[in-house]
Amino acid sequence: MLKNKQLNAWVAQMKTLCQPDDVVLCDGSTEEYDRMWTLLIEAGAAKKLNETLRPNSYLVRSDPADVARVESRTYICPEKAADAGPNNNWIAPQEMKSTLLGLFDGCMRGRTMYVIPFSMGPVGSPIAHIGVEISDSPYVVTNMHIMTRVGSKVLDELGEYGDFVPCIHSVGSPLGADQKDVPWPCNPENLYIAHFPETREIWSFGSGYGGNALLGKKCFALRIASAMARDEGWLAEHMLILKLTNPEGKSKYIAGAFPSACGKTNLAMLMPTVPGWKVETVGDDISWMKFGDDGQLYAINPEAGFFGVAPGTGMSSNENAMLSLTENCIFTNVAETDEGDIWWEGMTDDPPAHLIDWLGNDWTPKSETPAAHPNARFTVSAAQCPAIADEWEDLKGVPISAILFGGRRATVVPLVNEAKNWTQGTFFGSIVASEKTAAAAGKIGELRRDPMAMLPFCGYNMAEYWGHWLNIGQHDGAQLPKIYYVNWFRKDEDGQFMWPGFGDNSRVLEWIFNRCDGNAEAIETPIGNLPAAKDLNLEGLGLSEHHTEQLLNVDVEGWLNEIPLIHEYYDQFGDHLPEALRTEVKELQKRLESH
Ligand code: GTP
Ligand code: SPV
Ligand code: MN
Repeated sequence: MLKNKQLNAWVAQMKTLCQPDDVVLCDGSTEEYDRMWTLLIEAGAAKKLNETLRPNSYLVRSDPADVARVESRTYICPEKAADAGPNNNWIAPQEMKSTLLGLFDGCMRGRTMYVIPFSMGPVGSPIAHIGVEISDSPYVVTNMHIMTRVGSKVLDELGEYGDFVPCIHSVGSPLGADQKDVPWPCNPENLYIAHFPETREIWSFGSGYGGNALLGKKCFALRIASAMARDEGWLAEHMLILKLTNPEGKSKYIAGAFPSACGKTNLAMLMPTVPGWKVETVGDDISWMKFGDDGQLYAINPEAGFFGVAPGTGMSSNENAMLSLTENCIFTNVAETDEGDIWWEGMTDDPPAHLIDWLGNDWTPKSETPAAHPNARFTVSAAQCPAIADEWEDLKGVPISAILFGGRRATVVPLVNEAKNWTQGTFFGSIVASEKTAAAAGKIGELRRDPMAMLPFCGYNMAEYWGHWLNIGQHDGAQLPKIYYVNWFRKDEDGQFMWPGFGDNSRVLEWIFNRCDGNAEAIETPIGNLPAAKDLNLEGLGLSEHHTEQLLNVDVEGWLNEIPLIHEYYDQFGDHLPEALRTEVKELQKRLESH
């Protein structure tokens, strides 16, 4: 019997619907965590790694058909299609519910139903919110333990009448009486990740992987929370949060939105190559921001861990991530070494001579397929990161001085561009486009608009969301962050990155910090305020004059070619599009033409 009446009723209802063999209320304890791993190892889904090399850590191989978020099966279900917008898949709520009720009927037979009370954000923070996930996956329980705050302190906070977001999840694979389970049960043919923003519910069926199944993350903290934020005057964003300290010891907090697998974790944990500067991590994926009494936006990281992209992570690219991963980790779809440790592409310069790949097959450097899946992930507690900021769990959040938007753009978009004001910054966010990555199923490398890195995560009509951003700019007494459009991914004629990226992104952060303090120069250009080469610390980079020019230049023709594409993109939103954004494009065109 649970103290919270609403929770009690919902759990009873879900038990009747799903017909599990058992119900377990999760307490978030180590004992519970260990028990889940015993189950997962027995099922053949997980393997304990070499205790000396990687203490208390596990390797999990998913079903090869269940390896990433599936946007084509993700739905936003308000009453009216227009409220979901052209950016979302929409099915009417009654119809979706009836499909889901059919699928969930008896879906947990032969399995245990875990009830996971969790907090997004430090328990007791005025910016935090509570959810309860019901899941039949012990793998989900283990990940939720690390990624969120789970257990009785959450139930205490919820009290008798507190509100929570109900998140129901099933792998969608009930077991018959004598049926033997498979290591990674899932049901890709009947996949649904459904959100009901009006009733604030999440229903997920058929996948056990990442954002499809760990419902506190993208489903709650972005899709449902973005709708809550619109109603309540705050922001729920796909943003890292970092603390930047200059050589004089002065600190600022910066948030940044980049699409999936476009560098948030790396930027959040960056080791500056500029002497005397320091970056510390507050969050690597999601930011919830509310206005403080002083008019500043205060941000919390609603998560408690990192669910990071493994491939490409190594001591030379992201030392802080590597140092976070020494123990107490979950590795999903990485490769296994002969010593019982883990490896992935980019972890070391030279691959080991022999591995077991993510599919469980023998692998050598001669193999033609990657050893780790490109969307292989690590799960680790944020507290284990050596660069974690002391204030990362501050209940009041941290005040944000600058917001970055970015994506993977081989051409046109310069290294950094400062918006003149909040409205132009919102415009910058709305036109971000990026080449697709392996974080979601689909064709990799294709350029698509991903406004504010929220295309897959905005729980309502994107044009209304832009309207909400513009409204935030009108908040009484607001002390707004400055907004920057950055691009670490410009390529030269040979297809090589022009900008070294990673730790050298600190050179751009330095300029931004100093701009926020009124201590750095910029040139007013038709597209925004850009640094001249002399305004950036490029010392020791060995950038050619040609590359420097390309990175900081206004590509007038390239931008003029973008104009009709932006109009075309905006057109699909009809009269939901805020007029201010249309004006921004027109003004941009005028400035480019008279340049
Ligand atoms: P999600 O967890 O999917 O939201 O991804 P993310 O935005 O946190 O991306 P992450 O930091 O994990 O980086 C993804 C990939 O981008 C990795 O392969 C990195 O090596 C690469 N990457 C990150 N930063 C840079 C950079 O500054 N330059 C270049 N060229 N690549 C980068
Ligand atoms: C992303 O795809 O942006 C992620 C990974 O952060 S997942 O949790 O699977 O959504
Ligand atoms: Mn992400």
